[in-house]
Amino acid sequence: MTGLRAALQISDAGLNVVVITKVHPLRSHSVAAQGGMNASLGNTPGEDGTTDSWETHAYDTVKGSDYLADQNAVAIMCREAPASVLELEHMGMVWSRMDNGKIAQRPFGGAGFPRTCYAADRTGHNALNTLYEHVMNRNIPIYEEFFVTSLVNDNEQCVGCTAIEIITGRVHGFVAKAVLMATGGFGRIFSKSTNALINNGDGQALALRAGVSLKDMEFIQFHPTTLYGTNILMSEGARGEGGILVNRNGERFMKRYAPKSMDLAPRDVVARAIEMEIAEGRGYEGGYVNLDLRHLGDDKIKERLPGIRQIAMDFAGVDPIIDPIPIQPGQHYSMGGIDVDINGVTLLPGFYAAGECASVSVHGANRLGGNSLLETVVFGRLVADKIIEDISNISQPEVELVENAMQDIDIRIEQILEWTDGENLFNIMNIMKHTMFNKFGIFRDNQRMQEGLSEIKKLQEQASHVSINNKNRAVNQALIRFFELENMLMLAEVVACGALSREESRGSHTRIDYPKRDDKRFLNHTLTLIKDGKIQVSNKPVILGLFELKERVY
Ligand code: FUM
Repeated sequence: MTGLRAALQISDAGLNVVVITKVHPLRSHSVAAQGGMNASLGNTPGEDGTTDSWETHAYDTVKGSDYLADQNAVAIMCREAPASVLELEHMGMVWSRMDNGKIAQRPFGGAGFPRTCYAADRTGHNALNTLYEHVMNRNIPIYEEFFVTSLVNDNEQCVGCTAIEIITGRVHGFVAKAVLMATGGFGRIFSKSTNALINNGDGQALALRAGVSLKDMEFIQFHPTTLYGTNILMSEGARGEGGILVNRNGERFMKRYAPKSMDLAPRDVVARAIEMEIAEGRGYEGGYVNLDLRHLGDDKIKERLPGIRQIAMDFAGVDPIIDPIPIQPGQHYSMGGIDVDINGVTLLPGFYAAGECASVSVHGANRLGGNSLLETVVFGRLVADKIIEDISNISQPEVELVENAMQDIDIRIEQILEWTDGENLFNIMNIMKHTMFNKFGIFRDNQRMQEGLSEIKKLQEQASHVSINNKNRAVNQALIRFFELENMLMLAEVVACGALSREESRGSHTRIDYPKRDDKRFLNHTLTLIKDGKIQVSNKPVILGLFELKERVY
């Protein structure tokens, strides 16, 4: 959604803009966002009769982030939220409504008010389709099923990129005064994930190779409720509507972990609680607990949660009206990403990033549900404004540099297709995913993570020479998977290095060997860069200023 929102803004400013995308825009992962978008519209009052405000939204977000979010960025996002929801409405997006006609808002985890605006449980679907219609309406060119292979820069600024046209296998070059990365997360480096198969972190890896740093990559969100077996998202909206979590003994166990917020504590808290229940033998065999919606009744489930009911029936054979849904935590979101400021500006002039592939940072160590769709439209617009402002000061890039980069990629593809006796790339991918889930999951410790890092390095070695049986250029999916694998393994190492360096527990990063938050040593962002082929880790301060640091109690 970030890319489409930015493209609209840039096109409306009268500039030439194109969208390059690995899949059809309506298959981008925003389409799967279920529960909603946060904004302090105040359409539903809080329990004590008070009304929501952007400041309360900002406070909840900062507290949810375990104080690692940059508070200036959070303030911008929360201030812009109500206008962003209304902007989508004015573009034609259909929101769920209350009886009085106002946009409906449901409670979500870690939020002090019912703040999450929604379209049943298909919010991302509605929002993405709305933006796409506007992009089509303006005839913005879209290069669909193009896989970007490199960012090109002249040592001073980014001058464009190269991409493989998947259908023909031809390499294309794009010369541009500005390149915006809006490629989403990298959840698929983990085995149990709600993410689409396309979420491999291609954008983050391209940035890293171009000398741009990544930020806070160790913070991986595990969504508490993913369907047991397939790990498809079972929206937090289900608990927002009153659904409850119960263990094998029929006990509402969240009372022991978050007595006040219960099932609507933030995701890191609920995911840890479920893992504890399972580890201590109060889960079901195979490793799951139940999400019970039955008391909501037929009508409410059909009206507010039709999508998850259908998914539960199709993929688990369970109708939530009749039976509880078996769920377990699964990887869901990447809090870290390309290091950007509040305008989406990176270290490399002419190269910008926004949305999940970037870290601005509004989510810090743990994102609140409903803040992700919001981030896409707020920062999609703001980064576009910055590009519009910058563009007149950027000189016309040299075509030759991009042509040279195209030749380099062409030669590389030829070489890869000549390999004959290498490892099976899909085996390497599977081992990587399981390694990441088992060694860098919800609970972490030094020994397990060191083992994980060694395994990742071994896999990187193996991946330097794989066998690709399909020798054709056209529609060579194995070749694309190979490029993705290279990106994923690079990011796996970055996650590992960040997680090992952070000797504390904060938000989603829970170390059993360092169980406490350590503000003295670690109230800072982790930056990772590649220097001389090696990953280097450094730090930069968190921007505070609005809210005092406190213990997180829910
Ligand atoms: O649970 C959900 O519906 C997910 C929402 C989000 O990640 O923001």
